Amino acid sequence: MLENPYIPVFAKVVSVRNENSTTKTFTLRMVNGGAMRFRPGQFDIVSCFGVGESAFSICSSPEEKDVFENTVRRVGRVTTALFNTKPGDVLGVRGPYGKPWPLEKAAGNDLILIAGGMGLAPLRPVIHYVARHRDLYGSVDILYGARTPGDMIYTYEFDSWRNIPNTRLYLTVDYVPPDVSWEHDVGVVTELLRYVKPRMRYTTVFICGPEVMMKFASQMLLRIGFYPSEVYLSLERRMKCGVGKCGHCQIGYKYVCKDGPVFNMEEIGLLPDVIE
Ligand SMILES: Cc1cc2nc3c(=O)[nH]c(=O)nc-3n(C[C@H](O)[C@H](O)[C@H](O)COP(=O)(O)OP(=O)(O)OC[C@H]3O[C@@H](n4cnc5c(N)ncnc54)[C@H](O)[C@@H]3O)c2cc1C
Ligand code: FES
Repeated sequence: MLENPYIPVFAKVVSVRNENSTTKTFTLRMVNGGAMRFRPGQFDIVSCFGVGESAFSICSSPEEKDVFENTVRRVGRVTTALFNTKPGDVLGVRGPYGKPWPLEKAAGNDLILIAGGMGLAPLRPVIHYVARHRDLYGSVDILYGARTPGDMIYTYEFDSWRNIPNTRLYLTVDYVPPDVSWEHDVGVVTELLRYVKPRMRYTTVFICGPEVMMKFASQMLLRIGFYPSEVYLSLERRMKCGVGKCGHCQIGYKYVCKDGPVFNMEEIGLLPDVIE
């Protein structure tokens, strides 16, 4: 998208949506009228002038040309500065970067999408894409877990996801506070796999979430008969350049920014201690 991948272009904050107490979704528009042409699973690097820059999954529909979205969880300096921005403020944006989810390769297959916490962000464009191209895929099972019901993101879209033909959404939380009503599962997200009856050799799995969740989910999938090449994970590593030059995101001989963030289990098996 960008002529010089190191130089951010300006993007204006169009709107800000509160997802929960620590997470907001920012809708951005390029000031120069350009578009963020990205594929599901790719990320951008957003700079808050005078503070720094951070990587975020681009979480809107890939077919939305006018605006794009990043969902940001407040954890430190840059994310706190972003959290305080308002509609009309201007940020710097570079990207898109990284290898996307293999949606073309998975065409014709069923999909299982497994997300933990903020890991739903890079999978949301997959859901939007599948909804627009429903005939390209078989059944879709979305398994999403968060710490509590209040920690879930994109809850306002859940009904529309359930209404996508041949699509099921299963939810679970670790804990339900006493004053909250919750009619879904309680337990780790991997337990939701018991609802899914995968058609072996005709199913592709995309997983994103905390590393411990991705480790258990991928191990369970391999145990029930998935090939490592059928299970894809999105890895998060500290980024600087985003274009394979600085070495910050290096794992073994791979760069997460350039070779990832999406890898299949076959590739990950060849890397040292990726998932502890
Ligand atoms: C490909 C990719 C996609 C990402 N997508 C999203 C997203 O959609 N939404 C989102 O909120 N965050 C996402 N992140 C993580 C985000 O980049 C970090 O949370 C952010 O850089 C933290 O910056 P900070 O200055 O606020 O925190 P800092 O002040 O730098 O650090 C605060 C804390 O966060 C930890 N931390 C910082 N950076 C990372 C990182 N990259 N991974 C894990 N822990 C980190 C630090 O160890 C520290 O404990 C993504 C990261 C990558 C690499
Ligand atoms: S972020 Fe610089 S090499 Fe990946």
